[in-house]
Amino acid sequence: MPKIAVIGSIITDLAVQTTRVPNVGENIQAKNLRIGPGGKGANAAVAVARAGAEAVSIGCIGDDEFGRMEMAYLDQEGVDLSGVTIHPEAATGAAIILIDAQGENTILVANGANDHLSSEAVVKKIEAQHDTLDGILINFEIPEAAVAAGARIGMDLGIPVLIDAGPPRKYAPETWAHCTILTPNALEAATLVGYPIEDEIKAEQAARELLAAGPQAVVLKLGGRGAMIITAELTAIIPSFPVEVVDTTGAGDAFSGTLSVAIGKGLSLEDAVGRANAAGALTVTRLGTMSAMPTRQEVDALLKQHEKAS
Ligand code: ATP
Ligand code: RIB
Repeated sequence: MPKIAVIGSIITDLAVQTTRVPNVGENIQAKNLRIGPGGKGANAAVAVARAGAEAVSIGCIGDDEFGRMEMAYLDQEGVDLSGVTIHPEAATGAAIILIDAQGENTILVANGANDHLSSEAVVKKIEAQHDTLDGILINFEIPEAAVAAGARIGMDLGIPVLIDAGPPRKYAPETWAHCTILTPNALEAATLVGYPIEDEIKAEQAARELLAAGPQAVVLKLGGRGAMIITAELTAIIPSFPVEVVDTTGAGDAFSGTLSVAIGKGLSLEDAVGRANAAGALTVTRLGTMSAMPTRQEVDALLKQHEKAS
């Protein structure tokens, strides 16, 4: 069973469904308030565990109810929490999530304790576990220094490092360029390259620019279109699975978590992205974030169903 360390955010989600996102100064009715565990790092750690791997979470929470709720859920999912720091003063991160009628989300995040994840805590935990790790997954919802430290120590120790460049943050190339796989979505890639990505031609141009900065591969998440792989030898679009969209929140986390496990297991990049697409597709069919992460059996079943149909 591969073991993956997930260095990333732990955030409590307060999500509502709305017909549309309100304009400035407007007060409109929403429905179905759900308060539950989330955060890109924590969601991905659950995706890793449900994919049948060992997940180690490295992050920072506050000493409060939201933090305890997160820990209880992650613990129940079998995630190793020995790398989670409890900050004595900062509040656990919280996100206000609006899910519109198309299932698309708009998110406001108060990072709270996530901003206190130190490079030292990251390095200490990776060093302590390094001889058993098959991969490291890092996201951008934590301080830039912690991202850079995690990527550097992982690459120095010869562990595959996947960087999910979400949420959009203009972190310096020195932070993310030295990694095995950089996996942004279109908006995150646009933030890194500094121009909008309106179509597949621009997406490929951006992915090539990101690859030239240093990662061994770029896997660009393209929502309902699937994902684009760009390496020195390969350019490919791996199509998504047609599904009914209910809530896209967490699809990127399911994708990255599943991708890290598949790479840790030694799958080819194309097969790994195929599994990640299946995990993302299953996630968008369900309301919720962490709870929506699919299991390995569900991913296997979708892949099998698709194979039969084609
Ligand atoms: P998040 O909401 O977690 O930030 P993201 O924006 O980072 O997600 P997306 O590109 O929206 O990531 O989705 C990640 C992956 O999930 C896609 O590459 C695809 O495999 C799958 N996916 C997303 N939307 C759909 C969809 N409508 N139909 C099928 N698969 C989808
Ligand atoms: O990717 C989804 C996550 O982004 C949510 O769980 C929310 O916490 C935000 O960080």
